[in-house]
Amino acid sequence: MGFGLGYFHFALPFALLLALPTRSIPNGNADCDLYNGRWVYDETYPMYDARTCPFVRREFDCQKYGRPDNMYLKYRWQPNGCDLPRFDGRNFMRRWIRKKILFVGDSLTLNQYESFLCMLHAAVPYARFNFTKTDTLTTVRFQDYKLTVTYYLSHYLVDIVGQKIGRVLELDSMQSGRFWLDAHLLIFNTYHWWSTRGASQPWDYVQDGDQIMKDMNRTLAMSKALVTWANWVDLNVNPAITKVFFQGLSPSHYHGENWGESPQRTCSGQTKPLDGSRYPAGPLPEQAVVKNVLSSMSKPVSLLDITLLSQLRIDAHPSKYNGVKFPNDCSHWCLPGLPDTWNQLLYASLI
Ligand SMILES: *[C@@H]1O[C@H](CO)[C@@H](O)[C@H](O)[C@H]1NC(C)=O
Ligand SMILES: *[C@@H]1O[C@H](CO)[C@@H](O)[C@H](O)[C@H]1NC(C)=O
Repeated sequence: MGFGLGYFHFALPFALLLALPTRSIPNGNADCDLYNGRWVYDETYPMYDARTCPFVRREFDCQKYGRPDNMYLKYRWQPNGCDLPRFDGRNFMRRWIRKKILFVGDSLTLNQYESFLCMLHAAVPYARFNFTKTDTLTTVRFQDYKLTVTYYLSHYLVDIVGQKIGRVLELDSMQSGRFWLDAHLLIFNTYHWWSTRGASQPWDYVQDGDQIMKDMNRTLAMSKALVTWANWVDLNVNPAITKVFFQGLSPSHYHGENWGESPQRTCSGQTKPLDGSRYPAGPLPEQAVVKNVLSSMSKPVSLLDITLLSQLRIDAHPSKYNGVKFPNDCSHWCLPGLPDTWNQLLYASLI
């Protein structure tokens, strides 16, 4: 007994010493801004090997499709004033046992979703899982943890409805919301499709209230859709059960003048991130739209503010190494790669 107590008293300060520094990261440090920092070379990265991850689709599997360089795999995001905690997939699985995680958005969301699955899978490579897929839904269920991780494809979050006149993008309608209600963690995104025109635009008209138009200011349309989404969250989400994130805007790299190269340069052939913490072209105009909408919400929603750190990664896109005919993809990201950092930030916000 005496020994036990003595041992306890002896051991406690050591336990505290060991526990405190990790616990104070990242939120206990007032100088810590996880989204401001720089990329540093780190031999211990990447966090997984795409060859052993069953979830990477070919569009993101750059090494498999012939990308000759591999330095881009070895950069770690170094925030100013603190470190990003390393992703502990086992710890995460234990905390999120019996939970449902849902990613809603376009193929940039899919990019993050597949990265997230690979990071979990790398932590528990022998855990059994079930995989199901339909047009709009992909679900992986880790049976031993009863953890479900789902991707719901939605380009605009709001609905596209077949009306008599054609396909109408309805800015104030979000019927698919009913499929998102039972998740414990929701991560939303919309951005890239708002500027899509021509043959790949999946709608013929846009509806704003009573007005149906052939087209309208796209930034304004996106902001109206985000207000519809924000109202849905405010009305339907119970913060005691569900945590909500908005995945920040993922930048593309098609115009070299945005980062101080000639306008013809793209992500193609880039092998290193930009130095430092500043992107020459500055923030995307739509970032202000997102921040504005989020600031007017009544329910807590966290912004994964990944735009700046992603803008610095001119080297992290598949370009032509994507196994498909799309000739130069400077929108999506190789896996392993940048979306792993997005998920580390998500993890840091959750622990
Ligand atoms: C999941 O997969 C296992 C085999 O690994 C199978 O026995 C089980 O029925 C599947 N469950 C569902 C819900 O599909
Ligand atoms: C579109 O709307 C945004 C935000 O309201 C505005 O800043 C921008 O100037 C508009 N663009 C055009 C081409 O009118």
